[in-house]
Amino acid sequence: MDGHIPRLTLIFILLALSGFILLISNITSLGSSIHSAFKPPEILWPLEVNHTYCAHFGQEPTAEEAKEERDLLNSIAWPGPLVQDLPVEFSSDPAKSYFVIQGPAEQYIGGQLVVHVHVQNFLGLPKDHGGDFLIARLHSPELGAGVAGKVHDHHNGNYTVLFPLLWTGEAWVEITMVHPSEAVVVLKRLQEEHPDRGFFKSLFRSGALSETTVCNLCLPLNEKPLCNYTDPLTGEPWYCYKPEMLGCDTRVTHCKGGIKPNLITKYEEQFFQSGVNLKVPIHATGMGSVTVLPAEEGQTQVKNNYTAAGYYYNNSWRPLNAMDMHEFNDSSVITHCLRGKLLYMFGDSTIRQWFEYLTAFVPNLKKINLYSRTISGQFVAVDSKNNIMVSYRCHGPPIHFPTVFSSELRYVSNELDRIEGGPNTVVLVSVGSHFNTFPVEVYIRRLWHIRRAVVRLLNREPATLVVVRTVNMRKLNLQISLSNSDWFSLQQDAVLRAMFQGLNIQMLDAWEMTLAHHLPHDLHPPLPIIKNMIDLILSRICRVGKT
Ligand SMILES: *[C@@H]1O[C@H](CO)[C@@H](O)[C@H](O)[C@H]1NC(C)=O
Ligand SMILES: *[C@@H]1O[C@H](CO)[C@@H](O)[C@H](O)[C@H]1NC(C)=O
Ligand SMILES: *[C@@H]1O[C@H](CO)[C@@H](O)[C@H](O)[C@H]1NC(C)=O
Ligand SMILES: *[C@@H]1O[C@H](CO)[C@@H](O)[C@H](O)[C@H]1NC(C)=O
Ligand SMILES: *[C@@H]1O[C@H](CO)[C@@H](O)[C@H](O)[C@H]1NC(C)=O
Ligand SMILES: *[C@@H]1O[C@H](CO)[C@@H](O)[C@H](O)[C@H]1NC(C)=O
Ligand SMILES: *[C@@H]1O[C@H](CO)[C@@H](O)[C@H](O)[C@H]1NC(C)=O
Repeated sequence: MDGHIPRLTLIFILLALSGFILLISNITSLGSSIHSAFKPPEILWPLEVNHTYCAHFGQEPTAEEAKEERDLLNSIAWPGPLVQDLPVEFSSDPAKSYFVIQGPAEQYIGGQLVVHVHVQNFLGLPKDHGGDFLIARLHSPELGAGVAGKVHDHHNGNYTVLFPLLWTGEAWVEITMVHPSEAVVVLKRLQEEHPDRGFFKSLFRSGALSETTVCNLCLPLNEKPLCNYTDPLTGEPWYCYKPEMLGCDTRVTHCKGGIKPNLITKYEEQFFQSGVNLKVPIHATGMGSVTVLPAEEGQTQVKNNYTAAGYYYNNSWRPLNAMDMHEFNDSSVITHCLRGKLLYMFGDSTIRQWFEYLTAFVPNLKKINLYSRTISGQFVAVDSKNNIMVSYRCHGPPIHFPTVFSSELRYVSNELDRIEGGPNTVVLVSVGSHFNTFPVEVYIRRLWHIRRAVVRLLNREPATLVVVRTVNMRKLNLQISLSNSDWFSLQQDAVLRAMFQGLNIQMLDAWEMTLAHHLPHDLHPPLPIIKNMIDLILSRICRVGKT
């Protein structure tokens, strides 16, 4: 152990600095005039909170839930190197790795393309373990076509990628190393050791007095007095350090605090270098593309091991679940589709993007001024002539928004319980990114509550359309990786799919829709991708309307 006092002092200086930077920067705090109301945050830092502690904070799961949780966690177990602190030259290097397309240069539509990826280190030597996080895409730029591939890890440095062959023409293989296995080890360590690395704050105010304290989903008990904001209906935990002068009932706002700094060592940073080993393409040895030919007469159909959720063709998403996809290029067609509908959007800013798209694109859909001073909503837009209502509300904590009034903090499951439902009701749910910094168990618990509420809603009104979306892939750098790497989202993605399996809901595969598209990854994807998502939802809504 190094000396305690200098280390603490250093941490304090850094925290003070980061607090100051937070206050003066408004890069991410859109419309956060509220920030200026904060006094410089009093730095109250939780002592050690580990994964076990944080993952089990709040209610104990039932025996059945505990089993489901174990199965989910097993299903996302990630292999990795057993040796640690290896010199960086021995870590996976996308530039020295390569892929080989299996089979002939001409293949047939309806078949399956198999690609072998060989991961090597910076010395050009093959890796002998798995755990690299690879993503794959097959695409034809001139056709506006793209599909996500399925990556299998053989745990020996070799990987197999499968693509369904869905269109004719020349198709290019694109393999990207998101993280080398050595970086995933670091992300795993953060998940274990810093489950509270994302932190939050609340402003308390009464009369002339105001104070700001640190809040989180798990805070150490028996250290300092806490305010307990555990949700009485769901039991979802939420705590703030109690202000010194004010009572717990004087909480006014909730806002993001930030991400704890200095979480990783200089050595570990080497595994997160943009342009070197962070979202970097792996090149082909030999051909990088195949020509896909139309099916031949009497050709035996290849058994595909992997079915994608859909693919882009002519820049338009085509779902592979027998659903028709229409393009809604005309706002009057959207109005016609939505006539008589109530759309409730719950979740994070990625679903707020849908609200914004619809209200911007459909002039008849007028936003109502609810005097909301923040970007957290509630937002409502109506077209009273056509009886359309679209609303958006952010999900409950943890939520890293600039400012949310405490009175606006609502859990999705509780909101769902307040909806009558029926054939004219559409519920859209997006919960994911804000859970990236927490143990997966926390996300599982949140989804249990949402799933139960969805089941109750569908029991009440089976004709209600419920759409649950997965997380977008995002642009990564070192800092974003530590808090919001796609690797955290990948785990959540698997959990979310499993959680809603078998329910009569519509899963919107944002993961594949952002991966298969040619535009760069972004937490808030560009308009063409949003348009495809909205077109997909509208196609589903209007089909519901017809039957
Ligand atoms: C904050 O944002 C506004 C609007 O985007 C900009 O004009 C202003 O310069 C920014 N202030 C600081 C301190 O960055
Ligand atoms: C984590 O915290 C819990 C509860 O405080 C404690 O019982 C456990 O021993 C800790 N585990 C580790 C690995 O520190
Ligand atoms: C990985 O693939 C290469 C090339 O096909 C092969 O030579 C090598 O033996 C494979 N590695 C292992 C551990 O199977
Ligand atoms: C916080 O409140 C909840 C619900 O009232 C309760 O179950 C929990 O034990 C409380 N937490 C603490 C630390 O007292
Ligand atoms: C596809 O599945 C079959 C049967 O499960 C298996 O034998 C075959 O090896 C798989 N192919 C690939 C490329 O994974
Ligand atoms: C692509 O879309 C445009 C506009 O909808 C259409 O005119 C064109 O025929 C489409 N091309 C193909 C190959 O489907
Ligand atoms: C609809 O608009 C998109 C661009 O927003 C365009 O690419 C597409 O070709 C249009 N489709 C039709 C059928 O006009």
